[in-house]
Amino acid sequence: MEIGPRMVATIVTVMSFAIFLGVVSADPDMLQDVCVADLTSKVKVNGFPCKADFNETDFFFNGLAKPGLTNNTLGSLVTGANVEKIPGLNTLGVSMSRIDYAPFGLNPPHTHPRATEMVFVLYGELHVGFITTANVLVAKTIKAGEIFVFPRGLVHFQRNVQHAPAAVIAAFNSQLPGTQAIATALFAAKPTVPNDVLAKAFQIDVKEVKMIKAKLAPKS
Ligand SMILES: *[C@@H]1O[C@H](CO)[C@@H](O)[C@H](O)[C@H]1NC(C)=O
Ligand SMILES: *[C@@H]1O[C@H](CO)[C@@H](O)[C@H](O)[C@H]1NC(C)=O
Repeated sequence: MEIGPRMVATIVTVMSFAIFLGVVSADPDMLQDVCVADLTSKVKVNGFPCKADFNETDFFFNGLAKPGLTNNTLGSLVTGANVEKIPGLNTLGVSMSRIDYAPFGLNPPHTHPRATEMVFVLYGELHVGFITTANVLVAKTIKAGEIFVFPRGLVHFQRNVQHAPAAVIAAFNSQLPGTQAIATALFAAKPTVPNDVLAKAFQIDVKEVKMIKAKLAPKS
């Protein structure tokens, strides 16, 4: 069959529509009012199965009210308010988190495979940024009341630039954005990523790879 101009036009239209659908919604659309997650179900579906009985507690969470403890190596703590904490979020396509930063604390480079993120600064001052697939860093210093956006899937970070605590509220267009921290994904995976893979990728010695792995190994 010959591919004429009309067929090309049809293919382009269908493809644009598919791309459009993919871009406008991160999580799939809901098919009913509520589908409160049965987090204990053994059934595997895209998301969680709905439980039959629910009440207001399934739509409530007070875990972002207070600052999280930031006395760790990096000086930051992310507290999620996602479907794992709020079963009522199942199928709704949104979630939040609170991130607290110790003075000069860092939320290290990471990605959210399933969501775009917006942060709203509660207090403090942060240097934040993301890196495009063309390796362009898009970064800015933001302070209380200001917002910054990290597009879905792109590597991003936030660093507290002040000798005082900072905090943000983050919003996501996914019930469970997922987080992959670059350093720990590569150097603290289990089973471990082969040393020669990392040595060649980072253009360093295996000795240095082992040193980084030892530092990033989960503390038991
Ligand atoms: C809501 O349901 C949970 C069980 O899913 C139950 O433990 C809790 O007591 C209920 N709360 C109210 C206020 O009815
Ligand atoms: C952080 O502080 C809390 C409360 O002060 C304490 O219980 C915890 O052990 C500390 N953690 C670390 C890693 O120092």
